[in-house]
Amino acid sequence: MKTKKKLLTFFYTVGILMMVMGLYAFKSANVHESYLPQTPWKNLKVLPQDISKDSLDYLMKGYTTALSVKCSYCHAPSTSDASKLDFASDLKIEKEIARGMIKMTDDLNANYFRPHFPEPKPAQVHVVNCVLCHRGVANPEKYLSQMGSMYQTYDPELINRKEKILEQMKKQ
Ligand code: HEC
Ligand code: HEC
Repeated sequence: MKTKKKLLTFFYTVGILMMVMGLYAFKSANVHESYLPQTPWKNLKVLPQDISKDSLDYLMKGYTTALSVKCSYCHAPSTSDASKLDFASDLKIEKEIARGMIKMTDDLNANYFRPHFPEPKPAQVHVVNCVLCHRGVANPEKYLSQMGSMYQTYDPELINRKEKILEQMKKQ
């Protein structure tokens, strides 16, 4: 009788241990690193603070393709090691312009396209994106100004706005 009880307790203990270990293995096998909350980014002002590394990489690669540029078009070199980029730095005006572009694109999708989607409406729509206007050029306005009569509304007074702003910034 005593040995039977001892055996039962033994099997119970082993059983519970195996269950706990099984649950733990199940948990660690299913949680992929990219789905865990990421370490906070240093300087996000328009993108969500908790955006995963995968999503951020996907967006950034999209910007480079849409504009046919490299990361360094918007991101300034690091001050300590010029061979590396300092992604959190706000030294380049292109990064600030891009922030406005991200906000504009979100606004167009949310307020001008999503309302016309049939019910049940998706939480987010992506009708407008960078490439819709940029089509592989960094500045569509400058590019279209070379198309002659195709782009008649172009105002030559506004040429090189970014460069003019940069000049003013240097003088101050
Ligand atoms: C068209 C401009 C543009 C290009 C090109 C671009 N980025 Fe960005 N990137 C931004 C902007 C704007 C932000 C900040 C977004 C915000 O404020 O929410 C940012 C933020 C980041 C951050 C987060 C930095 C932090 O901690 O605050 C990383 C990392 C990053 N970019 C990597 C890249 C990489 C890698 C590439 C090239 C594959 C790239 N970016 C290309 C505009 C760009
Ligand atoms: C509705 C059209 C449109 C969309 C969508 C759009 N852009 Fe633009 N973007 C423009 C135009 C037009 C200019 C030129 C503005 C000027 O010269 O003042 C421009 C200029 C820029 C510039 C500055 C280029 C330079 O060096 O002169 C950057 C950087 C940029 N856009 C990034 C983006 C990114 C990133 C996205 C997507 C999140 C985006 N844009 C979406 C129309 C658009």
